[in-house]
Amino acid sequence: MSKFHLESKEARLIILQRIELATSFLKKIRKLFGRYIFSNYISKYFLDTRSIEKKYYELMKSELELLENHIVFENKRILSIGGGLGGLEILIARKFDCSFSFIEKNYISKKVKYGWDQNNKEAYNDLKLLENFLINNNMNKEKFKIFDYDKDILPDEKFDIIISLYSLDYHYDFDIYSKYLKKICHSETILVFDTIKADLYKKIFNRVQIIKKDDQTVHKSKRIVCNGFI
Ligand SMILES: C[S@@+](CC[C@H](N)C(=O)[O-])C[C@H]1O[C@@H](n2cnc3c(N)ncnc32)[C@H](O)[C@@H]1O
Repeated sequence: MSKFHLESKEARLIILQRIELATSFLKKIRKLFGRYIFSNYISKYFLDTRSIEKKYYELMKSELELLENHIVFENKRILSIGGGLGGLEILIARKFDCSFSFIEKNYISKKVKYGWDQNNKEAYNDLKLLENFLINNNMNKEKFKIFDYDKDILPDEKFDIIISLYSLDYHYDFDIYSKYLKKICHSETILVFDTIKADLYKKIFNRVQIIKKDDQTVHKSKRIVCNGFI
């Protein structure tokens, strides 16, 4: 199977979701002009879509390789919270027979801050572009549903795996989802997300395993795999 097919509008979005995909030149320009002007005007002319497409594919491939060492994916119902453009889920779908529900936000905040946000006003997605990217990359339309966190009734079914990379607890309080998560988890449901408070989750879940440490980043977060709400 080929790599990803990424359109230029999607490339402009993905560098907001994954800052590591931007070159240092782009990061400098963004600092100079501010994020709003950068995202809406400057990035149109300075982005190398093909190079971002390749880097995004490689990044998502390495994310999947890590998760595969800890999670069994075959035949699972997967909930993706804040999945961005869904590159990871596309790679899971190419390898395993799974179904997907995406919960995301449908707007791009003017001032994107990378870090924890108590009010959960930070978002950078466009649900039409998400759908477009999934379909263009051969995700079967029957296999996924997209939910707008601010407008839709969230899916009311039990999921086997919940994935939220650099979103839940990383950008906004876990509590905004905790009641909902309890409702949609069964005893074996696996949750994977990034946090700076790994120890706190040992009081919330029966099992918490740290599978990655981001020591080089400002946030110094850890990726944890959890299951069994206490
Ligand atoms: C840093 S990006 C990470 C995207 C993706 N998980 C990845 O690893 O590439 C965080 C994502 O969380 C989304 N987000 C923010 N608040 C959310 C919420 N309450 N529910 C679901 N997604 C949310 C943003 O729109 C953004 O796409």
